[in-house]
Amino acid sequence: MKTRILLSITALAGMMACHTSKKTGSAPAPTPAVSDTKPLVSRPANGIYPPGQEELAAIQARFRDASLDQLKKGHMIYSLGACIQCHKAMNIYQRSEAQWAGILEDMAQRAGITAEQKDAVYKYILAVKAVKAGESK
Ligand code: HEC
Repeated sequence: MKTRILLSITALAGMMACHTSKKTGSAPAPTPAVSDTKPLVSRPANGIYPPGQEELAAIQARFRDASLDQLKKGHMIYSLGACIQCHKAMNIYQRSEAQWAGILEDMAQRAGITAEQKDAVYKYILAVKAVKAGESK
């Protein structure tokens, strides 16, 4: 009798241990996006990524008073803010500078952003394109 109780206690303890280990054990890592097979250093194919020193240098070659803060604002408006109210953020590389100027004229009005915000988006787009153009040289 005593042995049987002891056995069931041991079994119960074993089950509990198993249960606890399940809880504390690390959860399975989320599967990475299948399409993301490129090395981390490469930039996204649509050109939509947070601007850094390279983008700043590229834009300052043409607009000396452009700032990283301005590029960051442009990126936010373009990828997370006013520009994604009606559609997703579109590929930056697929349109020329001249096209972008016209598109922004139109879209800034639709988005109801200020001239300053529009300029930030424009500079961000130009910076991203300039870095890409520099890479292929
Ligand atoms: C009020 C809705 C709305 C907002 C906000 C908006 N768009 Fe659009 N956008 C559209 C519609 C609708 C189209 C479809 C094409 C058209 O009507 O010209 C479009 C098309 C575009 C295109 C493709 C145009 C082409 O000729 O290739 C781009 C690029 C674009 N928008 C960028 C932006 C950017 C950048 C912003 C932020 C400044 C923005 N959009 C904000 C409605 C919007």
